Amino acid sequence: MTIIEEITQTSLAKAAKIIQTDGTVVFPTETVYGLGANGLSTKACEKIFKAKGRPADNPLILHIAEIEQLELLVREISDTAKVLIKTFWPAPLTLIFPKKKIVPDIVSAGLDTVAIRMPAHKEARELIKLAKVPIAAPSANLSGSPSPTKAKHVISDLDGKVNMILTGNADVFGIESTVVSLIGKEPIILRPGSITLEMLKAVVPNTKLDQTLLSEKTTVKPLAPGMKYRHYAPKAEVYVLNNGYNDEQITAIKNNFESDKILVIKEDAESLAHNLYSHFRSADENGYQIVLVQAVEPIGIGLAVMNRLLKAASHKIL
Ligand code: TXA
Ligand code: MG
Repeated sequence: MTIIEEITQTSLAKAAKIIQTDGTVVFPTETVYGLGANGLSTKACEKIFKAKGRPADNPLILHIAEIEQLELLVREISDTAKVLIKTFWPAPLTLIFPKKKIVPDIVSAGLDTVAIRMPAHKEARELIKLAKVPIAAPSANLSGSPSPTKAKHVISDLDGKVNMILTGNADVFGIESTVVSLIGKEPIILRPGSITLEMLKAVVPNTKLDQTLLSEKTTVKPLAPGMKYRHYAPKAEVYVLNNGYNDEQITAIKNNFESDKILVIKEDAESLAHNLYSHFRSADENGYQIVLVQAVEPIGIGLAVMNRLLKAASHKIL
């Protein structure tokens, strides 16, 4: 049975106990909902993979509440890491470090590195503090579904599969954290998010983008294992409309499809970041077969939006 409660001091204390006894708790963060468990316990993390149906080769992010926890988990904190941490954390920014042995192999999917994030969401940090362990948490969706941005998404995917769901989503941003690898000479963005390339470059000018992020090439292996999955997509077929179509032209495009269940989405980058996954889920609920989404400029938050959108569309562009 799954306990479903609003986030309060009482429900947080209950949730922390569940984490401490190797159970699973879904909680909101400032990006999307996370499916959490004790990040130092193999047994607890196995439950995350099982509940989501997540492939074992896709590593988890460890969420921490205090900077002291970082030193227990990673072998080296470079000067670049220190600058990024000081500037941004707590934030929707996940950093990849060389891992210490204390991090179970199941968390790192056998890699020698570990992803760490200190969330900006106050109650998420409170939960980690009360649990007194780093919390491993992927997005709280079934593997293959879009990340959950509303409590109802979590409930439809995971009710009955986890011990507790904490709800309260007023400030969920809608797109997962920026993932930056600190393993090579220069920081590389493995997954774009609301901490943008431009913001990172302002403090570490040699920050680079993983070249697979907007490209269609499948010959190059993404550095973040999770980025190879088409897991941002609805069941409906998604097409990206390249900039510049007026309403008449869009109607003409719609008429070329045999289906009449076509959803057209035209929003600015900021709203798309917030709504894209929710639109995908409601497209499926309402039986749409085709979703056409107007492209946005791949700059600032638009880069994260286009990365998710092109993946969902398997790079089908009209
Ligand atoms: O915003 C977020 O990051 C949310 C909330 C819950 O914090 N979490 C999230 O986790 O999106 P998940 O598991 O859905 O995505 C984590 C991404 C995956 O693409 C994974 O492959 C990558 O981070 N990742 C994790 N550990 C890694 C590592 N050691 N090296 C490279 N990539 C890693
Ligand atoms: Mg995910």
